[in-house]
Amino acid sequence: HEQREKLREAERVISERLKEKGLKYVLGGSYARDTWLPEDPDIDFFVLYDPELGADEIGRKGLEDLKDVVKGFNYWLNYAEHPYIEGTINGIKFNLVPCADVPLGQWITSMDRSRYHNDYLIKKLSDDLRTEIRVFKKFLRSNGLYGAEIKVGGLSGYVSEVLTVKYGSFVELLMNVVMCCQGEVVALEPYDYDPKKVFTTPVIILDPVDQKRNLALAIKNRIFGKLKVISIKFLMAPSVNYFRERKIVPEIKPG
Ligand code: CTP
Ligand code: MG
Repeated sequence: HEQREKLREAERVISERLKEKGLKYVLGGSYARDTWLPEDPDIDFFVLYDPELGADEIGRKGLEDLKDVVKGFNYWLNYAEHPYIEGTINGIKFNLVPCADVPLGQWITSMDRSRYHNDYLIKKLSDDLRTEIRVFKKFLRSNGLYGAEIKVGGLSGYVSEVLTVKYGSFVELLMNVVMCCQGEVVALEPYDYDPKKVFTTPVIILDPVDQKRNLALAIKNRIFGKLKVISIKFLMAPSVNYFRERKIVPEIKPG
C-alpha cells in the first residue's frame, strides 16, 4: 500500500515535469497495467514524437528533452535498440522512452509498439488474470528466468502477460509449457502466414499487436529448457520453494 503511494507520487512528479515541457506521453509497462511485482516496480513513460522527425532525430531530440526533464534526479542512459533514460526518484525506478506517435503497424522506432501492447492487454486483463500474471512473473524471477536483458535472455514482462492471457491461469500456462512441441506457434490473434517458415525458435510466440514479430526471439534456448524442467517439477510437486528468491550459483563441473 505504502509502495503504491510512493509509485503514484513518483508518477505525479515526473508527469508534471513532462507537461511543463509540453511533452506528450503515455504510461505503459506493468505499472500502467497493474501487473508489476513489488520486488522491482518501475514506471514506464513513453514520450511521443512526430514521426516526421525520423527515428534518429527522435532518439537525439528525445534524449535532449528528457535529460532536461530529469535534471536534478538520479538518472543514467540506457541503450536498447533505441536510447532512453532510466532513473530513480525516492527509490522508485522509472524509464523515459522517446518513441514515434504512429498509428498501429507503422512503426518507426523499436519502442512504438509498447503503447499498443498496453492498449491491447488492458482490454484483456481482469483482476484474476493480473494475479495469475504476478504469480507467473514471480515464479520466473525466483528461478532466474525473468527479464529480457541480453544477460538473462529470459521472459520479459510483456511475454509473461501475453502467455498468461493465452492460457488463462498460471497452472494452465505451465501445463502448456510442459506439453509444448518444438516450433509450436502460440498466437492470441489470427495470422495469415506460416511463422514456421520464418522462425526457428523452440516455440514461436506472436506479438498480438504485430503478428510478424516473434516475442520468443529474445529468449535463450537454455532458458526455454530450464522453464520446461522447472514447470514439470513444480506441477508434480507444487511448493512455495519455487517462489523463494535465491541466488543462482553457476554450476561448477568437477575435473
Ligand atoms: N518493451 C518492448 N520490447 C522490449 C522491452 C520493452 O516492447 N525489448 C515494451 C513492452 O511493451 C513492455 C514495456 O516496454 O511492457 C515496458 O518494459 P519493461 O519495463 O521491461 O517491462 P514491463 O512489462 O513493465 O515489466 P516489469 O514489471 O518487469 O517492469
Ligand atoms: Mg516496467
